[in-house]
Amino acid sequence: MTQGYSQEGKRLGIVVAGSLSQGIEVKLDSQVSIEDMAVGRYVSIEGKRKRFYGLITDVRLGAIDPRFSINPPDMSDPFIAEVVIGTSAFGTIKVLPRLIWDITSSAMQRTKTVPQPFQIVNEATQRDIDLIFGPEDEKRLVIGNPLDMEAKLCLDLELFATLSNGVFGKSGTGKTFFTHHLLNGLIQKSKAVSLVFDMHSEYGWSWRPQGSHQEFKALKQLFPSKVAVFALDEENYRRRGLSPDFIVRIGYDQIEPADIAILKESDS
Ligand SMILES: Nc1ncnc2c1ncn2[C@@H]1O[C@H](COP(=O)(O)OP(=O)(O)O)[C@@H](O)[C@H]1O
Ligand SMILES: [Mg+2]
Repeated sequence: MTQGYSQEGKRLGIVVAGSLSQGIEVKLDSQVSIEDMAVGRYVSIEGKRKRFYGLITDVRLGAIDPRFSINPPDMSDPFIAEVVIGTSAFGTIKVLPRLIWDITSSAMQRTKTVPQPFQIVNEATQRDIDLIFGPEDEKRLVIGNPLDMEAKLCLDLELFATLSNGVFGKSGTGKTFFTHHLLNGLIQKSKAVSLVFDMHSEYGWSWRPQGSHQEFKALKQLFPSKVAVFALDEENYRRRGLSPDFIVRIGYDQIEPADIAILKESDS
């Protein structure tokens, strides 16, 4: 279906317009249903010597003749519907180009240009995802799947450990769950040592996700020899029948007025 170094990614359409900052406009082929398109999906665009990778950021309907919106054709007639859909009236997607794979140098770079007009746009495949995020191996951790794809999405833990990162989301969306997965991965693949300030006692011995009755093992249970628990509240730990590795005691002489001041409730 596609050509050259590209492989089986399903063809979606062709590049018709766009810019680097605003995104590339892609006219969908007539046999591709706009209902199957979704914002956030990965696509590849075949250049001559480069392959572009981007994300779908918008899905739109277009028509050659603006009069279609005032005087729509009779779509109950299957013959007219077949003639109109995909030619006179069609779907378009907006793609934000992110990365370029240079075939001659086999290097991945950030996008600094756009593909030529009428280049073919395909769905990204597992091979594309591997090329971008790398395959699963001793330094990469599988963290999920791209939207609407079976492909595995991997995180390079060595790179991850050198950057500042955050896990954000609304309450109950799986932040603690995901952070457990990341910490497990970092310990298992021995890529970094983590210091966890565990305000809600979720990472030490066991934890229960929001709205769940099921209790899960936490880091100390999973990796007893690799995890040390430092407790401030020894009694709380003993009540649960556990013993921390270290008890941390803060002397009165180590507490400054400013430490107390931040505990004061705000008046507003
Ligand atoms: N990847 C996942 N797959 C299925 N269920 C999940 C996943 N991540 C979290 N959950 C479920 O979602 C609920 C909230 O998870 P939690 O990590 O406590 O959310 P948060 O910390 O964002 O408030 C829990 O019941 C948990 O079992
Ligand atoms: Mg949480």
